[in-house]
Amino acid sequence: MPQANKAARFWDRIARKYAKDPIADMAGYERTLEETRRYLKPSDSAFEFGCGTGTTALRLAPSVGHLTATDISSEMISIARAKAATEGVANVSFEVATPDASKFPEAAFDVGLGFNVLHLVAARDAALRGVHRLLKPRGLLISKTPCLAEMNPAIRLLVPLMQAFGKAPYVAFFSADELERAISDAGFEIIERARHGTKGKDVRPFIVARKM
Ligand SMILES: C[S@@+](CC[C@H](N)C(=O)[O-])C[C@H]1O[C@@H](n2cnc3c(N)ncnc32)[C@H](O)[C@@H]1O
Repeated sequence: MPQANKAARFWDRIARKYAKDPIADMAGYERTLEETRRYLKPSDSAFEFGCGTGTTALRLAPSVGHLTATDISSEMISIARAKAATEGVANVSFEVATPDASKFPEAAFDVGLGFNVLHLVAARDAALRGVHRLLKPRGLLISKTPCLAEMNPAIRLLVPLMQAFGKAPYVAFFSADELERAISDAGFEIIERARHGTKGKDVRPFIVARKM
C-alpha cells in the first residue's frame, strides 16, 4: 500500500479517539496560538495542512480572512466540518488534501500553517516544496512539530514496536536543526524560532519562515 494511503487509513482509524484527547500542555498551546496570531492579518488567505479535527483552525479563523484547512484523513475532516457547523464559523473550509498533491492553485495563500504534522509526513521535503508552491511571494510558513531526535533515545525502539502492532503511524526522527535545514532547502528563510512548551523539555520548536 502506498505510504500516503497507509497514513490516511491510520489517521481515519484513530480520528474519533484523537478528537477526545485533551491538549497535553494547554499553556504552551495558547502561547503558540498567540504568537501565530501576531503574523496573521484580517486580509490573509491562509491554509493549514494536517489540521486534524480542526481545533486550531477554528481558534485562528477570526484572525484571517479565510482559512482553508486540509488533512490526509477524511475522518478528521468530517469531524472538523461538524465542529465548524456547531460553532458557526463561516470563514474556514475543510478539505481532504496534502500540500504535495494539492488541488489549489500556485501562489494562492499568504500563510501556510502546519502544527504537529511534519514529523508524520514520509514525503516531508515534497510537502515543504508543496507549501512553498502554494504561498504567494514572501508568504509565511508557520510550523510547530515534535523533533523526535531530541527525545529519549528509547523512543527509537518503542516506535517500531508500536508500528508493528498498528499503534503508531510513520514518524521521522529529525532534530530542530535538521528540520530548519529542510525548510531552508525548500526555499524559505527562517525568521523566528522559539519554544513555547511549559512542561519540562520542549522538543517542539515553533518556526516561522518566509518564502524567498
Ligand atoms: C498529530 S495530528 C495533529 C493535528 C493538528 N494539527 C493538531 O495540532 O492537533 C497529525 C495530523 O496530520 C495528518 N497527516 C498525517 N500525515 C499527513 C500527510 N502526509 N499530509 C497531510 N496530513 C497528514 C493526520 O491525519 C492528523 O490529522
